[in-house]
Amino acid sequence: MDETRRRTLYGRRRGKKLRVGQQSLLDTLLPRLALTVPAQPEKIDLARLFDGHAGRDVPPGGIWLEVGFGAGEHLVWQAEQHPDVGLIGCEPYLNGVAKCLAHIERAGVGNIRLLTDDARLLMAALPERSLGRVFVLFPDPWPKARHHKRRFVQRETLDRLAELMVPGAELRLATDDPSYLPWMVEHACTHPAFEWLAERPVDWRARPADWPPTRYEKKKLAGTPTFLRLRRR
Ligand SMILES: C[S@@+](CC[C@H](N)C(=O)[O-])C[C@H]1O[C@@H](n2cnc3c(N)ncnc32)[C@H](O)[C@@H]1O
Repeated sequence: MDETRRRTLYGRRRGKKLRVGQQSLLDTLLPRLALTVPAQPEKIDLARLFDGHAGRDVPPGGIWLEVGFGAGEHLVWQAEQHPDVGLIGCEPYLNGVAKCLAHIERAGVGNIRLLTDDARLLMAALPERSLGRVFVLFPDPWPKARHHKRRFVQRETLDRLAELMVPGAELRLATDDPSYLPWMVEHACTHPAFEWLAERPVDWRARPADWPPTRYEKKKLAGTPTFLRLRRR
């Protein structure tokens, strides 16, 4: 990886000591699913990445991305529900990655690839107009004003996602943080490349049927969750 492109990651890389089984999944299953980001200007070959899914073509349902999948429950649920889609999950927190690998193994899904690093590194190396759906669910809120620049939802990341997403692709954002919500509305819902799909309050307060709760939602939710759905124009 080109170290000059490496961004600062503010979150944790590791938590408590991994159990033997978790370490073994990191040693054996992760190398089979792990994605390497090529040096610029080379782009990731998505057909090769999902080789074995359906020959040398990209999965027929397209490629979806989940940024910061935590323990991966939502990622694996989407992979099970959409076997024709190739899912890329990015998560730098290795304890979460180990939990996700256990879910992947249990579910027996073959359509997930993982980057255990900053999603922005992946975004720089994906081909334009390659993503059919993007999930950013409960990103770290960084509530202090002086830390807002650390938030994943920023004009720069949204501009890049707009380049990466095919017209009509959906961007799903969720937060329970009372200060991140207006920020998401200001930055994402009014972004010229995206159309906010909500027509009335119930549209962002009610969980869509194909949007299962994440681990964070089940365990740590601090406020009321909000579900934002936007469409790439
Ligand atoms: C509050 S947790 C939510 C996890 C998960 N989405 C859930 O709802 O259970 C935010 C996650 O985003 C990850 N994260 C933070 N910055 C990231 C980045 N630049 N790229 C990928 N993941 C990131 C963190 O490691 C953390 O696991």
